[in-house]
Amino acid sequence: MQHICVVGLNWGDEGKGKIVDVLASDVDAVVRYQGGANAGHTVYIGDVRHVLHHIPTGILHGGIQAILGNGMVIEPAKLIEEVESLSEEALSRIWISDRAHVVLPHHGAVERILEEQASRPIGTTLRGIGPAYQDKFGRSGVRMGDLVQPGFVDDVLEARLLERCRVLGVSEQCATEGVQICTQLRDRLGSQVIDTCHLLNEMHATGKKLLFEGAQGCMLDIDFGTYPFVTSSSPSFLGVGTGSGFSPRKIDHVVGVTKAYCTRVGEGPFPSEITGEAADALREAGGEFGTTTGRPRRVGWLDIPMLCYCAALNDIDSFALTKADVLTGRDTVPVVTGYRLGEELLESLPFSVADMEAVEPVVEQWPGWNQVDERAMQPFIERLEAATGIPVSILSTGKRRDEVCIFSPFQVEGEVA
Ligand code: IMP
Repeated sequence: MQHICVVGLNWGDEGKGKIVDVLASDVDAVVRYQGGANAGHTVYIGDVRHVLHHIPTGILHGGIQAILGNGMVIEPAKLIEEVESLSEEALSRIWISDRAHVVLPHHGAVERILEEQASRPIGTTLRGIGPAYQDKFGRSGVRMGDLVQPGFVDDVLEARLLERCRVLGVSEQCATEGVQICTQLRDRLGSQVIDTCHLLNEMHATGKKLLFEGAQGCMLDIDFGTYPFVTSSSPSFLGVGTGSGFSPRKIDHVVGVTKAYCTRVGEGPFPSEITGEAADALREAGGEFGTTTGRPRRVGWLDIPMLCYCAALNDIDSFALTKADVLTGRDTVPVVTGYRLGEELLESLPFSVADMEAVEPVVEQWPGWNQVDERAMQPFIERLEAATGIPVSILSTGKRRDEVCIFSPFQVEGEVA
């Protein structure tokens, strides 16, 4: 197996960072293909907590290249902050696509206005993601490659940003701040801005192994998620091609990551959501508070129709099941296996937000476990595999890197493949 892709099958926060970290021990590069500082990965190495927003967690392995693809939107101050938390040696392994877009101060300013004035806000991370993609698709964006063009930051950028500020009706101060932060980014990281599409194809040709990492989750996908309560990029596997310039046909295995229950941050439909004391207990037990915003996450049960929808869309080869430790000690574990909409029994997700909010989940009790290991969890895993038709290849049993059970096809004679 040469190339792998890891994607989230819920609304983000599935624990992808941990799974990428586990699989990264056997790859040459980890690639992000969408999103920006709205993502936050927490990885524990020993008891040390690392939080990364743009840089793939693979950077924490010596020798691995970390590639920020063209589909990303990069927030200069955050990226600089992340780089400062790593060593200079690690910096030499980070490559940023010249075609990735820059998140500028006017993006944050526009987003704050939009969220404040909306009759029903999306509950975004307020990191300027949506407006940055609007500028990209409106063909008014600034790309990382522009910053390293001679004279661009010093002579051209201010006028460009002032024009955007005037069109969008935000303070011209944003333009001044934009020039300052882009100057810092160019000076600190300009040497790492390259044509990453060329790099990836060259790595493929020389037999190097690539690991693509989706941020957020499939249910937040701009096309296939719970629109408009989604992010502005394509976190699903379908986004790999346009977000990295690397043909998805070359990817051998897609791992879909799901928690043993479900969470969501921000607004929007969540059919399997629970509230009240049971929800509070699950949130506390799972430490379900946002890495980027600190917001308490909404919680609910594993949702099989949603999982099947995401698995089909992403052409998933296997599941990585995370945070099962949070549910340890229950005789049975509630799982949503269908929805009722009025008189109708649905086996798949309805299209509209109104219907998704109106459905009554059908809840089944699946076998629980007293400890998180392969044997104790076998009945639950078998039930999941039977309901979805997809095998579990990785079982995360705790926060730390070494708390994991790895099955076929990643386990080869006791080693990660
Ligand atoms: P945005 O990506 O900041 O525009 O936010 C849009 C929606 O996606 C909001 O509901 C956010 O809470 C959600 N979101 C964005 N990034 C993440 C993430 O990394 N984890 C979970 N939810 C996210």
